[in-house]
Amino acid sequence: MPCTSSEELKQIMMQARVYTQYGKVADYIPALNQADPDNLSVAISHPEGNCVSAGDVRMKLSLQSISKVLALALALMDRGEDHVFSKVGYEPTGDPFNSIIKLEISKPSKPLNPMINAGALAVTHLIKGESVQERIERLLYFVRKLAGNPSISYCEEIAASEFETAHLNRSLCYFMKQHSIINEDVENLIYLYTKQCAIEMNCLDLARIGLVFALDGFEPLTKEQLIPVSVARICKTFMVTCGMYNASGEFAVRVGIPAKSGVSGGIMGSVPNRFGIGIFGAALDDKGNSIAGVKILEMLSKKYDLSMF
Ligand code: DON
Repeated sequence: MPCTSSEELKQIMMQARVYTQYGKVADYIPALNQADPDNLSVAISHPEGNCVSAGDVRMKLSLQSISKVLALALALMDRGEDHVFSKVGYEPTGDPFNSIIKLEISKPSKPLNPMINAGALAVTHLIKGESVQERIERLLYFVRKLAGNPSISYCEEIAASEFETAHLNRSLCYFMKQHSIINEDVENLIYLYTKQCAIEMNCLDLARIGLVFALDGFEPLTKEQLIPVSVARICKTFMVTCGMYNASGEFAVRVGIPAKSGVSGGIMGSVPNRFGIGIFGAALDDKGNSIAGVKILEMLSKKYDLSMF
């Protein structure tokens, strides 16, 4: 049974939309700055295949940091848990997502978790393939399977715009190369990572992927186990502890749903064993999370008692 109807979801979305005026579209990646801050869309995807949605669901957004969950799943499937966690830690950080400070003061010098930029770069480094092209194709193949949509790709313009301006991410990579966390050419890795972050989809696709994580890696329509249960659980745990950056604690208290956000204004939610949620709303709060997206999730959680805690 759907937790809500399209009409109820639309009302929740309208109530959340008033908050977009207090948010700001990301501008440190120039191509993201073109997004309309008032656009909002939300979809809830259920195991039986039915989907409830509101807003302009055709609107596409790049995944940005949401891609970190997908890259983590693929890297864990490629290399195994021991290898991945020899390069990146398990612990949340109270710092902004692109902070460099803990890299220097943590001993050993590895990124604290896979959801901050340093950790995500270390994880993307582990995606197998002979070339950047092969690695992005493998990631895309995986994402298309998760979403059940073979036409998903990345946006060249957004990838190029981030590649040209990713100086802070380059510096994180050079620091990690010095400490043998990564050993590939930094430009290569940034090239791959910026394509990964530029993978584009609409909120229906995102909700579908959220559903696969909610079901511990099981795709209910094709009946395939796309992600091993243990890997899906690791990903969901990081969504709870680090998925909303340095607002993850407050989000866990207020909403209590494993979720991952990105600076383009997307949020993927996975209500365990029930459904997936995809939200796009480009206006961000001061922590970099979609301001109206967080409100929608708060309202849904309260109204339908969705907190897992
Ligand atoms: O690496 C970056 O800075 C972006 N491609 C992704 C950051 C991001 O989405 C963090 N979000 N809140």
